[in-house]
Amino acid sequence: MHIAVIGLGNMGSALAHRLLDTGHTVSVWNRTPGRAVPLVERGARELPSPETGQASPDAIFICLTDDRSVLDVAAPDGAARESWTRALVASTATVSPETVSTLRDLYGERFVAATISGAPQAVRSGEATFIIGGGAAARTGLGPVWDEFAGPLDVGDDPRRAAVVKLLHNNLLLTQLAVVAETVRVGRLAGVDDETLTTILQESPMMPGGLRNRIAGLFDPAHAGWFSSPLATKDLDLVLGLAPEGTRLPVTQAARDAYLQVGREGWGSADITAVIEL
Ligand SMILES: NC(=O)c1ccc[n+]([C@@H]2O[C@H](COP(=O)([O-])OP(=O)(O)OC[C@H]3O[C@@H](n4cnc5c(N)ncnc54)[C@H](OP(=O)(O)O)[C@@H]3O)[C@@H](O)[C@H]2O)c1
Repeated sequence: MHIAVIGLGNMGSALAHRLLDTGHTVSVWNRTPGRAVPLVERGARELPSPETGQASPDAIFICLTDDRSVLDVAAPDGAARESWTRALVASTATVSPETVSTLRDLYGERFVAATISGAPQAVRSGEATFIIGGGAAARTGLGPVWDEFAGPLDVGDDPRRAAVVKLLHNNLLLTQLAVVAETVRVGRLAGVDDETLTTILQESPMMPGGLRNRIAGLFDPAHAGWFSSPLATKDLDLVLGLAPEGTRLPVTQAARDAYLQVGREGWGSADITAVIEL
């Protein structure tokens, strides 16, 4: 297929590389110039704007940060992009159910919310899972893309469900990571060395399997990684927004406040494992 990837951050770049690895034709666009270079060197075509007019891709994958950026780019002035109306449109961003519902209204059966469960490395290797919800035309028409990954997890024709399921995944990840970070900190304060703590995290049956790829990041003083605290704060705000106003969710709220604080203390471009610095 010919696929346009809109947004070349950690996720968009990984997706575009995977699609090139698996033989698809790829066009790319990113707001800040320069990020397309490694992909263009591998054969991708760089678009001068999000308009896909002459390139005429079969599908467009939106890989932007949040509700605002997705709507700014996919629904300028509240309308569907004319040049996108002949393609299938997939949004991989973790955004609110309202935003994917708006895109479904604009792009109809050709729109699918395709949130991603997995790190950019897992996208690049094809091990990530798409959680797909939306038009049947898009869910089936994008089969050749889903085939390049694990899954997909198909939640049916309502894109809001894909948004919600992704947010529930991230609530598990982010709240539990904050607890793991605090456990390491308590262990250190109690005199347990890092080697022993690492072994505990690697071997304890109480440690969620999905967090094992975070262990090195917790002990890395730079907390290098692929998922920032501002993104985590955004996701937990969205989780809190799923419940009726006034619902008490003290653990989610505490984790949300923790990632917000991590960003404020200068760790905003580091990985979420920087939560251990609080
Ligand atoms: N990283 C992960 O592990 C992970 C996992 C699953 C899901 N996600 C979700 O996937 C989405 C992308 O995450 P990411 O890690 O790729 O984020 P990222 O590395 O921060 O990249 C964000 C991308 O959005 C673009 N962007 C932001 N605001 C924009 C605007 N107003 N107009 C146009 N472009 C804009 C950025 O362009 P510039 O280069 O110009 O800034 C960049 O290409 C997020 O919703 C995130 O929650 C991430």
